[in-house]
Amino acid sequence: MHRFYLFYFICLFLPMHLDAKTPEAIISELCSGCHSDNGQAGHLLKSRYQHVNSVNEITHLIQHGRDDLGMPAFSDALSEAEIKQLAVYLQQNNQRNKHKSLFNPKQVGLINSAQGHTFFVERIVEAEGVFWSVDFFPGGDLLIAQRSGILWRESDGQLTKITGIPNVLAKGQGGLLDAKFHPNYKENGWVYLSYSEDKGVTRFGRTASMTAVVRGKIRANKWVEQQTIYSADKDLHIAARQHYGSRFVFKEGYVYFSIGDRGQKKQAQDLSRANGKVIRLHDDGRIPVDNPFVNTEGALPHIWSYGHRNPQGMTLHTPTGNIWSTEHGPKGGDEINLIKKGNNYGWPVITYGVNYSGTKITDKTHMKGMEQPKHYWTPSIAVGDVDFIDSTMFSKWQGALLVASLKSQELRLVRISDHSVLSDDVVLSDIARIRETQIAPDGSIYLAANSRQTGKAQILRLVVVQ
Ligand code: HEC
Repeated sequence: MHRFYLFYFICLFLPMHLDAKTPEAIISELCSGCHSDNGQAGHLLKSRYQHVNSVNEITHLIQHGRDDLGMPAFSDALSEAEIKQLAVYLQQNNQRNKHKSLFNPKQVGLINSAQGHTFFVERIVEAEGVFWSVDFFPGGDLLIAQRSGILWRESDGQLTKITGIPNVLAKGQGGLLDAKFHPNYKENGWVYLSYSEDKGVTRFGRTASMTAVVRGKIRANKWVEQQTIYSADKDLHIAARQHYGSRFVFKEGYVYFSIGDRGQKKQAQDLSRANGKVIRLHDDGRIPVDNPFVNTEGALPHIWSYGHRNPQGMTLHTPTGNIWSTEHGPKGGDEINLIKKGNNYGWPVITYGVNYSGTKITDKTHMKGMEQPKHYWTPSIAVGDVDFIDSTMFSKWQGALLVASLKSQELRLVRISDHSVLSDDVVLSDIARIRETQIAPDGSIYLAANSRQTGKAQILRLVVVQ
């Protein structure tokens, strides 16, 4: 008798607790009898919930049931972990959340699980247009650059314009681009802006422009004490409207920023041209004497590296001091590069991409004297900004590279070791065109996301739940 009960006991509980069932399996075994299209209770994935909303409420309901509704308790049949996972799954897949999408006036309210973290996607602020960048005032307000030429200060969900910033040529991919605080902002008050500058030059009857950088201070929401950090000579300005770069990295008193090829492929290889380059200057704009091409005749002394197509992401890996960038390829060939002094990254001589028309740009993917990307995506995801995760909140993602994507509207986590890429996983999808990633001082993750369907821009925040 005794042995029989023990055997029965083991049979009953072993499979359930050692092999946790997937939410899908649980639903079809235990729930769909009542929750189906023709069952009495509402369909778990197709209906809108009436009684529960958050993961905690769903968990509680599945654990304890509700006699008054006719919903049974499952705390005996399912482990705590299974119930939790099921609740997260239901919350994520619920029809109401799908319709909520991003642009619900309330918090976004989506819960996602990926790579060991369950996190909440919260909407901080929304506006008409395209947000290009976000950074953090010391007190908790946000500094937001909007491409049409507006610099915002966000405070408790309210946007206030910072007046007096330079005019930008807001056409095509140009406009107000990156806006970042100097790492010693608290002491020196400097804020850096990059934008498409219009110097009144025309070529072929069109206004020409080039990526420019200024710094200034913000006082009582006014832009004051502006200094020019980089402004290309008029003859370097180009009439095209695309591929401006541009992201800032601050390191050891220097400012690095990227300029895209401005649609002029071959000029990325031309050291007398500013386009298709990563630039390095002292943070006050002076040219460092140890820049790689200061003694090369005909070369611009600002250049740090060249052969870039459109680097729209750049970040510092603090533990090693290495600078990593992402580069927007053509159709295919989006890259992650490790940026080193004087290197040639190969565009357009070598690439993994093809023309948008499908025709080949080149047969070559490798060449002596040209750097290989550390990672590339073909087909292209339209790669945006990147940041290394340094966050006790997202502790399981620590040290990995967070990668934004525009076209595929997702966030990726790329793990890197000894200069090579180990893994590449999607951690958030179907959001919107993500242009910028930023790790907040509290370890949460901020995104600048834009929707072409609605024409709206949002700042989103990812926070780990529990
Ligand atoms: C014996 C039938 C029955 C079974 C089995 C059952 N439920 Fe229910 N459930 C109900 C009823 C009845 C309600 C209340 C009516 C409604 O909301 O559709 C309900 C409500 C719910 C709700 C709340 C819906 C809302 O509108 O807020 C959730 C979530 C839920 N059930 C999940 C589950 C899950 C998960 C399982 C399987 C582990 C399950 N149910 C199994 C009968 C059942």
